[in-house]
This record gives sequence, C-alpha cells and structure tokens, in this order.
Amino acid sequence: MSDQPIGVFDSGLGGLTVLRALVDLLPDEPVVYFGDTGRFPYGPKPREEVTKYALEIGDLLVDQGAKLLVVACNSAASVALDTLESRYSIPVIGVVAPGVRAAARVTQSGRIGVIGTVGTIASGAYQRAANLVDLDRREPLALTCAACPGFVEFVEAGDVDSDQVYVLAERLLAPVRDAKVDTLVLGCTHYPLLARTIADVVGRDVVLVSSADETAFEVRALLDGASGRRSAGGAVATRTFITSGDIHTFRALATRFFGPEVETVEAWSWS
Ligand code: DGL
Repeated sequence: MSDQPIGVFDSGLGGLTVLRALVDLLPDEPVVYFGDTGRFPYGPKPREEVTKYALEIGDLLVDQGAKLLVVACNSAASVALDTLESRYSIPVIGVVAPGVRAAARVTQSGRIGVIGTVGTIASGAYQRAANLVDLDRREPLALTCAACPGFVEFVEAGDVDSDQVYVLAERLLAPVRDAKVDTLVLGCTHYPLLARTIADVVGRDVVLVSSADETAFEVRALLDGASGRRSAGGAVATRTFITSGDIHTFRALATRFFGPEVETVEAWSWS
C-alpha cells in the first residue's frame, strides 16, 4: 500500500475536471493538484516552452512524493508526454489517448470531432492517437479537428455561459458541425466546463466525450496492476491544491468547478 499522492497538473483550472473524476473513482487516494495559473495559457505557447513548464511541474510533484503523474492538460500532454515518461521512474498518464479511446467506443459513424487549444491541434497528437486506435477497428476513424482559441480564457475568468461565449462557440465549432460528426472529443480539460454551451451549438445528438473518466479508470488500472501502489484508505485522503497564480481567485473558481473540498490553496512562485 502506498499513501504517496497522485500528482495532477494543468495550466490552470481545467485539470480539475480530471481531478474530479479521479477523486470520485478513487476517494481514498491522496492527491496533489498543481494549477500553473501564473503562466496560463499553454495553448498558444511554443512546444519547447510548454515542455519546459511541464518538466518543472513534474519535478515539483515528484519532489512532493507523487507515486504517479497525471498530465491533466491536453496542451502539455500533446507535446511533452514522451519527455515526461522518459524522465521519471513513476508512471505518467496523459489525457489524449484516453479521450480517443472513449470516443472510439461511442461513435457509430466513425466521424469524430476534436476541439482543443491551438497547440494541441497543431501537434497532431489526436490524429496519432486515433491512428493507433484504428488498428482495433474495421473502419478508420475520420477526425475533424478544430482549435478553439479563447475558450479557456473565458473559463479561467469564470464565464462559461454568457452570450459572448455562445457567439464564439458558434464561430469556432462550425467546422465540426459541418463535418456531421456524431461524437465530439473535448480535447482540452477546460472544455467540460463549457459543455452546455458546446452542446447547444453542435446539437444534442452529438455525444460529447471528455477524457476525465477514462483517464481516472486508467489511473485505477495502473494502481491496481502495480502491487503496493493503492492507498490503504481508512484515514481521510489529503487533497492539496497549489497554484502559481492568485490563490484567492484560484480557490473561488476551484470551489465552483471542483467542489467545496478546495479549502486550502498553497501559493507557488517560479521566481
Ligand atoms: N486545460 C488545458 C488543455 O487541456 C490548457 C489550456 C491552456 O492553457 O491553453 O489543453
């Protein structure tokens, strides 16, 4: 048994959607969540810069004793997963492959939309993951990918359903709507927080898939598979939240998006 925490990180609040699924599935596991709000957003930044940030946070979480690392940020997972995996001896799980797997199970037509940040879409990570999933299917998956710059900024500002968000969504989601996809992967961990607006725009008959639950199942499988990795349970599991941004803003929004368990938020400074 291991009472070391699971380390989870994102550029800001979006990774809390993954953390929520993780904590619901594995309530006895201690977790430490790092939101790099001070350097948010990652999506428009060059891959070298995002990789550097991911490694810095990975080191920090490993120093905190993490037994497993969840890269709860598509922008970071798309460009830095391999580098993180080769740097640490603990398992590292991203959110791209779980999202594609979940979508491949759901789709009837094989036409899948993927929306994400500019960095995620430009990286081609979803297409590569879909090519691997294709091996298990008779028909190849047809992906229509669209970058949605601006979405995450609305979420970090706490605005998930204003008219402005809706107007932006109408414009950015036009390519996936035109492609008549039956399944849409929310390829950014911030986007589940915009799910109602996105569903209104693409239509209720399109299934929205987030990688949160699938990632949580993957974490559980990994912990169960490796003897001694599951927490013993019994005591109340610690949940530590750290942000490189303003702790008051983080706590207010994290409480809204994650739940009242976000009591104490620790500040981190990169300088
Ligand atoms: N939540 C993130 C993702 O999944 C990052 C958004 C951003 O920082 O641009 O891509």
